Amino acid sequence: MKVLKRVLKWITGAILVLLLVGFLMGFIAYWRSTNDCGKAGAPTNPMKAIVYCDYGVANLKLEEIEKPAPSDDQILVRVRAASINPYDWHFVEGTPYVMRAMGVGLRKPKDTRLGVDFAGTVEAVGKNVTQFKPGDEVFGGRGGAFAQYVCPRATRAVALKPANVSFEEAASVNIAAITALQALRDKGKVQPGQKVLINGASGGVGTFAVQIAKSLGADVTGVCSTRNVDLVKSLGADHVIDYTKEDFTKGAERYDVMLDNVGNHSLSECKGVLTPTGKYVLIGGGGASDQGFLGGLGKALWAMVFSKFVNQQMGMMMADANHNDLTILADMMQSGKLKPVIDRAYKLDQVPDAIRYVEEGHARGKVVISVD
Ligand SMILES: NC(=O)c1ccc[n+]([C@@H]2O[C@H](COP(=O)([O-])OP(=O)(O)OC[C@H]3O[C@@H](n4cnc5c(N)ncnc54)[C@H](OP(=O)(O)O)[C@@H]3O)[C@@H](O)[C@H]2O)c1
Repeated sequence: MKVLKRVLKWITGAILVLLLVGFLMGFIAYWRSTNDCGKAGAPTNPMKAIVYCDYGVANLKLEEIEKPAPSDDQILVRVRAASINPYDWHFVEGTPYVMRAMGVGLRKPKDTRLGVDFAGTVEAVGKNVTQFKPGDEVFGGRGGAFAQYVCPRATRAVALKPANVSFEEAASVNIAAITALQALRDKGKVQPGQKVLINGASGGVGTFAVQIAKSLGADVTGVCSTRNVDLVKSLGADHVIDYTKEDFTKGAERYDVMLDNVGNHSLSECKGVLTPTGKYVLIGGGGASDQGFLGGLGKALWAMVFSKFVNQQMGMMMADANHNDLTILADMMQSGKLKPVIDRAYKLDQVPDAIRYVEEGHARGKVVISVD
């Protein structure tokens, strides 16, 4: 008995020591967390860019920093327009907090540049680049897009912009339209004639998703609020459910694919509106003010467990921006099958206002930044 007591004492002591060491290491890592702010000298070849040294929209600043030079595999793009995604405010706020522990920066953002989606004109190309030449109009995704210049790798997420599409429209495509395309085509495997429900049909992803689902031949139901019913119908939705008047999870209709941009219903409610072989594709959800430690990832993790106990496929998808899918989307825009919906346009120095607007969670289509 005495031995057992001693063993328990030792185990408890060891656990306490481990907890203390973990806490101390976390504390030190938190205070050591830093970034490159204030370390660079005055730029020799300046460009304007949005920079943030600390988390929070109030800390976004338009500053002059060094203009990038393309490496052998990169192209230098003069940015003409960029677009805002919820992705951007996740980085601005550093939420859900688990992101910070996963390398985004515990106390301060490690990467002080912001923005991904861009469209612009190629100014120079690296010596290995054969796909693009100076003067080409391109669009795609590259970190630090809220700036006058970006240098994407020529083989990555960049493609030629169709001539009939404006820079603002092209800049709105990368994250939102690729997400919609991959969710419906790859994860949902939408077939002609299938019934597809899009929860959150009027936002950035949703406005692309309605049009892409239609072009895949689906019978599309969009869920949005009263003020967006006409917009979602105009994008081609066969049926529109106004969420302020009707709860789609209580309806009798069953869907082959449900694409969820909002995440405001439980997984069992969502399962309830699927056909026996239906697929639920979780894209995201949760507002800027209710992220907490895990944010929408909590639901994604729960879906991994939940789907093991039901016949339907239920899970989250993460978009993968790439050249081929951007080219498919460019072709769809050129042929008129896909038309970006632009809600508002801001200037580069108004990025904080644009982020605040998207954080409210009621954008109608995409919010873009025009860059002079
Ligand atoms: N997994 C990925 O790879 C990936 C990629 C892109 C985005 N995401 C995530 O997907 C989500 C959507 O992105 P987004 O760019 O479409 O966002 P967004 O443009 O900010 O979407 C806002 C839209 O959501 C609608 N909405 C709000 N509450 C709703 C409700 N209860 N029912 C139906 N619609 C509602 C709003 O319409 P009303 O004004 O009418 O309410 C608004 O049109 C975000 O959480 C984002 O982080 C994930």
